Amino acid sequence: MEGYTDSAFRQICKLINPNIITYTEFTSSDGLVFNAKTVQKKLVFSLSERPILAQIFGKNIPHFIDAAKRCQDMGFTGIDLNMGCPDKKVVRSEHGFALRQKPELACKIIEAVANAVDLPVSVKTRLGFKDAFDLNSFGKSVESAGADMICIHGRTFVEPYNCPANWNPIYELKQVLSIPVLGNGGVTSLSDGLSKLNNLDGFLIGQASFGNPWCFTHNLPEQLSHKLPIILRHAELLVSDKGEERACLEIRKHLVQYVKNIPNARAYRSQLVHVQSLTEIKQVLETLPTL
Ligand SMILES: Cc1cc2nc3c(=O)[nH]c(=O)nc-3n(C[C@H](O)[C@H](O)[C@H](O)COP(=O)(O)O)c2cc1C
Repeated sequence: MEGYTDSAFRQICKLINPNIITYTEFTSSDGLVFNAKTVQKKLVFSLSERPILAQIFGKNIPHFIDAAKRCQDMGFTGIDLNMGCPDKKVVRSEHGFALRQKPELACKIIEAVANAVDLPVSVKTRLGFKDAFDLNSFGKSVESAGADMICIHGRTFVEPYNCPANWNPIYELKQVLSIPVLGNGGVTSLSDGLSKLNNLDGFLIGQASFGNPWCFTHNLPEQLSHKLPIILRHAELLVSDKGEERACLEIRKHLVQYVKNIPNARAYRSQLVHVQSLTEIKQVLETLPTL
């Protein structure tokens, strides 16, 4: 997830549950082809994050092919093609969800990537624009084009991230496909995901993981003090990946999420959004209530 699931956060999630599959943040195939350093950095990962899918987006077939080959050379487990991002700028560039509305181009991309690499290729998309009326036909085309898996976010293009997700069209899609189908949308925990699984092959947890990598396990820490070593480890990993200055800017949003349900969270939040060093992060964390 853009801005969240970088290498440090993925490593933290794998510490909590080593059995999960991780995805990179979505990464521009154009940027990779043009050797943009900021884009390349998004694909840095450690072996502990495997199995890991590189998620790439774009619209240009040769760029997708080139980007997928680079991901293969970097040691990724699979390639995930983003066909669901609703961001205005992304869709205006004919990327992300725009491909969900252009099934012919979407299928050409899938076919080209699947033929170019030896890795499994998956697609992540949404129910549809305003409803899921063409989800089954899109899914069948994706399967025929050579995708090895499809993941459906159970919201439409027009629905915000906080509205209830609808998994019924995803269950129906699974009935007409042979490839694995994963469900996504509104899952709050591992047990919640398992309760929604039905006939599906797996599920993805998104926003519920922010400040809560324990959503991937049944073994929930009983006290905040038991979470602190993980929070600190997260900060340390980020510092070692991105340097202290950048890491301190980026960890702030995570720290705020980590403390969101504690008493007097507002007071801690105002300190956490100003941290400037690892030492300062440790100092603020030490003052948190040991509930
Ligand atoms: C901040 C943010 C960033 C996201 N970035 C991506 C992304 O890079 N690639 C992607 O496929 N989906 C992305 N998504 C969508 C999520 O993967 C997921 O489909 C969506 O949040 C629904 O799942 P949830 O209800 O569990 O959060 C993003 C969502 C949010 C809120």
